[in-house]
Amino acid sequence: MKIKLLPALLLAASSGAFAQQQVANRPTVVAGFPVNYNEDSVGTYTLPELLKTTDGKPVATARQWNEKRRPELLRLVEENQFGKMPPRPKDLAFHIFDEGTPAFNGKAIRKQVTVYFTKDTSDHKMNLLIYLPAKASKPTPLLMNISFAAYNQMIEDSGLRVGEIWNKEGKKVKADKPTPFGKLNVEQFIDAGFGFATVYYGDIEPDFKDGLPYGIRKTYLKPGQSEPAANEWGAIAAWGWGLSRAMDYFETDKQIDSKRIALQGASRLGKTVLWAGIHDQRFKMVIASISGEGGAALARRNYGETIRHISDPSRYLYQFAPNYHAWADKVNAMPIDAHMLVALMAPRPLLLQTGSTDYWSDPKGEFLSAIAAAPVYRLFGKTAPSDSTVMPAAGDTSLLMNQLGYYMHEGGHTVLPEDWKMFVRYMQKYL
Ligand code: GCU
Repeated sequence: MKIKLLPALLLAASSGAFAQQQVANRPTVVAGFPVNYNEDSVGTYTLPELLKTTDGKPVATARQWNEKRRPELLRLVEENQFGKMPPRPKDLAFHIFDEGTPAFNGKAIRKQVTVYFTKDTSDHKMNLLIYLPAKASKPTPLLMNISFAAYNQMIEDSGLRVGEIWNKEGKKVKADKPTPFGKLNVEQFIDAGFGFATVYYGDIEPDFKDGLPYGIRKTYLKPGQSEPAANEWGAIAAWGWGLSRAMDYFETDKQIDSKRIALQGASRLGKTVLWAGIHDQRFKMVIASISGEGGAALARRNYGETIRHISDPSRYLYQFAPNYHAWADKVNAMPIDAHMLVALMAPRPLLLQTGSTDYWSDPKGEFLSAIAAAPVYRLFGKTAPSDSTVMPAAGDTSLLMNQLGYYMHEGGHTVLPEDWKMFVRYMQKYL
């Protein structure tokens, strides 16, 4: 099987040089479809109304939002974009094979848990790594990350189980090689009193075209069904579903404060955490990094990637519900847009992290989405930008500390070491 993998993120290990290059090499045609990078050519568009129900009634209070508008929007997003997901499986089981080993010179304790999704334990299992501050006297809040790498590739700790990852030929292989990402500094979370947890997304569902036979979605096909129905889950919803299963585990662990879990992921995994957080309200906070098109960036704004590019069969069709692709050529008729995704997180804290030269993901489209969603946060008395807020420059932290937060680093399609520091600050305030 031939797959095109390497998310742009893999290539974006460091910002500076990459950013320069990205400007020069901006593709103008992708999958045969033009890409617009010219503000003057964006055109005009009207976003579907947030604060009016489908039967035309105004939504003026938090209660009307919660009881009427939120459920109907959630369904629209589910039907038209990510697809329906099954509930918690009845055979879900946890095997804690590392029960609290000291790590990072005794600063933390480490747990490793295998989450079995099906009764057959030979396949469909997710390794969950958790660090908690060793000196915690109460259940600990934590950041739950979903990653492109197996956790032993991501963190410097010799006690980690070596995971398996999908290779370019679509086979699972031992994750015993380093990645170009470099290692994540987990101690910064521990030092701030937070735990840190992570999973490899490929343990849930592979990330390539024709990956259906290998992931969790296959196990839910009904007899006679060869692929998910038009309104059923794509790979992004499957990854998000896996995060809810991690939450199922957290709820059983007395050392973890499951009411204070923040989700974080980047790029297609930024889209994933946004959907997981919207759908599963047990998550207290979402930090969506460079989520772009199909994430927090407005679809109607013709800049950078569009649904048309996503929907090309050679690209990311499998990541969304089949229904989504029907909008590729008529985005203005789509009943939803990204401001609705952002608003569906309200009143829970949401931080959008973007990059100033990540044109493909349209950082301005994410900013405008936040502006459009802000009235919903305000219904709940939460802090959010206003219509007159000017888009912050790269590195400007003035919108970081809102419940609906926005932060753009200087650089491209990546999460920089300084971004993680921002996340810690944000968690200190709102988690
Ligand atoms: C591609 C894709 C984006 C996605 C990104 C990533 O660039 O077009 O939609 O966010 O990959 O996951 O790195």
